[in-house]
Amino acid sequence: MTIDTLLTPAELPALARRDLSGTACVVFDILRATSTFVTALHHGADAILPVCEIAEAVALRRRWPEVLLAGERDGVKIRAAQSGGVDFDFGNSPREFTPERVRGQTIVSTTTNGTRALRACAGAKTVLAASFLNLAATAEFLHNEKEIILVCAGTGENAAKEDFLAAGALVELLVPRLDARPVLWRAADAARQTFAHFKTDLASAIGSSENGQRLLALPELRDDVAFCAQRDLFNLVARLDADGKLRRI
Ligand code: MLT
Repeated sequence: MTIDTLLTPAELPALARRDLSGTACVVFDILRATSTFVTALHHGADAILPVCEIAEAVALRRRWPEVLLAGERDGVKIRAAQSGGVDFDFGNSPREFTPERVRGQTIVSTTTNGTRALRACAGAKTVLAASFLNLAATAEFLHNEKEIILVCAGTGENAAKEDFLAAGALVELLVPRLDARPVLWRAADAARQTFAHFKTDLASAIGSSENGQRLLALPELRDDVAFCAQRDLFNLVARLDADGKLRRI
């Protein structure tokens, strides 16, 4: 097994050009896209369709009026003024995606980093959306893979501490399960060591990140930080299917 790690959005265009036909890509956007998608799927959403642009989401709603729209820019729910007058049903807070609101629904989502990272992996053999909320189930699913790339979605153009910590936590879970010692490429090993350092107070470590600080400063979103720091609340794997939709497996 090889485990590689991408730290910033600047690495995504090169990823899209790589032959990923034998690779499992695991995307982390802990604050908050992948945490939110995992929560929505756990609460019964049928599928999440991640798209890069607000205009794409709006066009899909015109084509399929039954889909729900979700997404954020600068952390807050997309406003009608940003979407040509179309009201989005959700922002990107996992706590909005309750069973009552999502059961049986297909949700089109556009976020600043997370949905872009997922789309950049589209050519891979397997693409998973992972979070602390479903980390053990994700590790279990991956343990027979030969080649894994951990894709940290980042914050804006920067690396995100919380994504790096989650990547390290996944490496920590994968290593003892393997028959042969994995090749830990440098960044994956650094992520594992960083997670080992911070794991006793994960919520504080995540809260001290760039996006953690932004969310903590917004009274209606501050509780998202502690929510997304929870380990293994959900026993599910979220996989991107060939039709571009994330579903629970
Ligand atoms: C993103 O995709 O950049 C995020 O998930 C941002 C956020 O929701 O705070």
